[in-house]
Amino acid sequence: MIILGIESSCDETSAAIVEDGRRLLSNVVNSQVDIHAAYGGVVPEVAARSHIEVINPVIKQAMQQANVTWDDIDAIAVANAPGLVGSLLVGTLAARTLAELHGKPLYPVHHVEGHIYANFITDEGVKSRSEEAVSEPSSETQPENTSSRREVRSEMASERNGDQDKAIKLPTRQPAFPMLALAVSGLHSQLVLFEDHGKYRLLGETLDDAVGEAFDKVARMLGLPYPGGPSVSAAAEQGDPLKYDFPKAKLQNPYDFSFSGLKTAVLRAIQREVGVDHTFPSFELPGRLNDAQRADFAASFQYTAVETLVDATVAATHEFQPASVVIAGGVAANQELRRQLSDRLPLPIDYAPMSLCTDNAAMIAALGYYRSRVLSPTPVDEVSVYPSMSMAQTAWNV
Ligand code: KG4
Ligand code: ZN
Repeated sequence: MIILGIESSCDETSAAIVEDGRRLLSNVVNSQVDIHAAYGGVVPEVAARSHIEVINPVIKQAMQQANVTWDDIDAIAVANAPGLVGSLLVGTLAARTLAELHGKPLYPVHHVEGHIYANFITDEGVKSRSEEAVSEPSSETQPENTSSRREVRSEMASERNGDQDKAIKLPTRQPAFPMLALAVSGLHSQLVLFEDHGKYRLLGETLDDAVGEAFDKVARMLGLPYPGGPSVSAAAEQGDPLKYDFPKAKLQNPYDFSFSGLKTAVLRAIQREVGVDHTFPSFELPGRLNDAQRADFAASFQYTAVETLVDATVAATHEFQPASVVIAGGVAANQELRRQLSDRLPLPIDYAPMSLCTDNAAMIAALGYYRSRVLSPTPVDEVSVYPSMSMAQTAWNV
């Protein structure tokens, strides 16, 4: 079964073709990150306008690279929750229109649940269709108005064109159930226990900031560019993770998280380091830090944030004895997280490639496939958007 996935919940416009929920035939991602970097964060209206500009060419490009036509596509899956309302509306309306036009079943899916399904994409059969389809994106299908401010990634092309280190490397097998998932992005930090596809419960979640949001805010205090996750971890490579001993929140539920205390502790430590008091504005701090200090703060913050995530994941692994553990969401691209997990988990763990950790439509198509096996499609006119829907509300209950 071949599914077209569409993702536009935040600042990435993406379309992908995935066969049987595991074989990646194409994954085109048009990132707006450079546009929003100028503002230090995502500007919702700018994001929505940008999605409108590129969504049709991105879908066209994904189909071309996968070498499929509308006749080959069995269903469409779209992320319709949660996210920025204007962004979600663009992808959802495109999916509704295409489903109606081409008479395809439509499956709305939850974005965070989708992140977890990036782990179900494996290298089995990757070569089947895509081998012939791999090519440089043709100018005809490049998004119009593509400028140097946009980055268009294509998974299958980069695998063969890029250097080996950056090549997309997929796991060889799918995770087994029961599966423990740590979903960590710019908006979410949660631990979810899956009994099977669609049968899951939330063990815990953040009570304040998401961990990706904490990375983004600490980056701003240190004068590192947006998005904060990659820039903090790059700076951390030169720093001492044990230079500052930041606190970890102690919560009643051991699987809940809290990152706002850590963020404030970093702010106070920076203020102390540069010799100002707590009233000193945080936006003036970066100018008073040198690169070595920046690196030490980045490394110590990252170490503690990651250790917090890993403590809860290891504790849940001992309590619930899952057959597999997966990590998902933008922060799953973090190398320190992967290092600490691999060191401390009592079972081996496979990681999705970085490009499938941050927002992409392949994960949406993969989840759409598993939903389509047990659920009926949603009537096109009933597919709406839900900007703040929790994953707890979308368990399939079948
Ligand atoms: O999943 P995602 O692409 O979008 C959301 O659904 O939020 O996650 C974006 C978040 C941002 O906060 C970004 O700073 C963080 O993921 N992130 C990272 C890394 N790469 C992206 N955080 C830590 N380390 C990274 N390497
Ligand atoms: Zn995401």
